[in-house]
Amino acid sequence: MDRIAITGGARLEGSIPISGAKNSAIKLMTASLLTDEPLRLTNMPRLADTRFLGKLLQRLGSELVETDWPEGAETMLRTREIVSAIAPYDLVRQMRASFNVLGPLIARTGQAKVSLPGGCAIGARPVDLHLKALEALGARIDLHEGYVYAQAPRGLTGARIEFPFVSVGATEHALLTAVLAKGETQLVNAACEPEIGDLALCLNKMGAKIFGIDSSTLVIQGVDRLRGAVHSVIPDRIETGTYALAAAMAGGQVRLTNTRAELIGALLDKMIEAGVQVERHDDGVTIRRDPAVRLKAVDVATDPYPGFATDLQAQFMALMTVADGESVIRETIFENRFMHVPELGRLGAAISVSGGEARVRGVANLQGAPVMATDLRASVSLVIAGLAAQGETIVNRVYHLDRGFERLEAKLGACGAQIRRISGDAEPED
Ligand code: EPZ
Repeated sequence: MDRIAITGGARLEGSIPISGAKNSAIKLMTASLLTDEPLRLTNMPRLADTRFLGKLLQRLGSELVETDWPEGAETMLRTREIVSAIAPYDLVRQMRASFNVLGPLIARTGQAKVSLPGGCAIGARPVDLHLKALEALGARIDLHEGYVYAQAPRGLTGARIEFPFVSVGATEHALLTAVLAKGETQLVNAACEPEIGDLALCLNKMGAKIFGIDSSTLVIQGVDRLRGAVHSVIPDRIETGTYALAAAMAGGQVRLTNTRAELIGALLDKMIEAGVQVERHDDGVTIRRDPAVRLKAVDVATDPYPGFATDLQAQFMALMTVADGESVIRETIFENRFMHVPELGRLGAAISVSGGEARVRGVANLQGAPVMATDLRASVSLVIAGLAAQGETIVNRVYHLDRGFERLEAKLGACGAQIRRISGDAEPED
């Protein structure tokens, strides 16, 4: 398995182009199941997760063509017919979001068999809200030996679905399913994450009728069929926030391009409060920090969008490990999202956890050490910490990073970071 080695202490100077959002791209790819015409997705990130999903979609009957143009990567998906409505455990287990093929398969063929995704490192992550939404739309659901068996022989019908709490995945799943249901569907207390707005915009280009985009109530007038479309994937707000935090941690000046500052508004407010300089542009944001000046500790609590993203919590904690004072970081979305804490501790951070709250007492310096990645966002927090740690940090289990960060070493390296990948064949994993 590959590892990443970082020698801390280099300032970052330059610009980083932000890729298309992983968490939008994978839902947009799934939307291609809803039509027999081609869906062309531009500004596509090339990631392990998009590859996993591509494999599953091909298994279900999609044709997939990837083209890397000088101006960006494109994926064309076309599902003339569903050749199998079965998503097996091995493929769903590798990436939870592939569970969201269930609704589109029912909408297109009237039946499906999809493996339950199971838990993961950051928490139990049930799918009860997904299944209730599909049932409300008229699907009959049976659970048997780890699989969801779904049937809607007489088709799906619109319904009013009120989510008891905000769920990104359940909102997207209901949306993907309701566009082809008969009549009107209302999704109340829907998630407002920008990736859901992106999915809704793409579905509307395909002929869907979705109203209330970017609000917490989505109204969908079902249509008989969808057509092909061309859609550019929204910039990755988590990648944007991650590199903003990397620049703040290392010090220097980095311009993040091909993105939108408002996608990370809650993070930028906290960074400014901590003492980081932020300048917004039409095509992104510039982050400036004088490494000689110590940042102030600030508190954050994760929340659904437009609140502080749980997917940036670990990276923000890395920044707070060297801030002046104590920062309280509260995780409210997932019950087990502090797995980076012991690893940051190996670098010299002083963090104590009690329930959903971490107290980070800023230290003067971190020291490089071998650390282990546990999930995607946790692992990149270790890279950020390594940028400022004295000496060398080796991040093991880099495959987590490859799921969601495109050319991470190249992007940071181009700004002067001392970072390199050690191929798994070259040296054994410790
Ligand atoms: C999405 O996960 C993202 N994943 C996550 O990013 C992100 O952390 C999360 O939204 C929150 O923003 C993708 O988009 C692929 P949820 P999702 O449903 O949809 C509970 C990353 O690193 N819940 O909003 O799975 C759930 O357990 C990933 O890119 C139920 O109880 O998140 C959690 O506590 C990690 N029942 C809360 O709701 C359900 O049926 C919010 O989860 C569904 C969810």
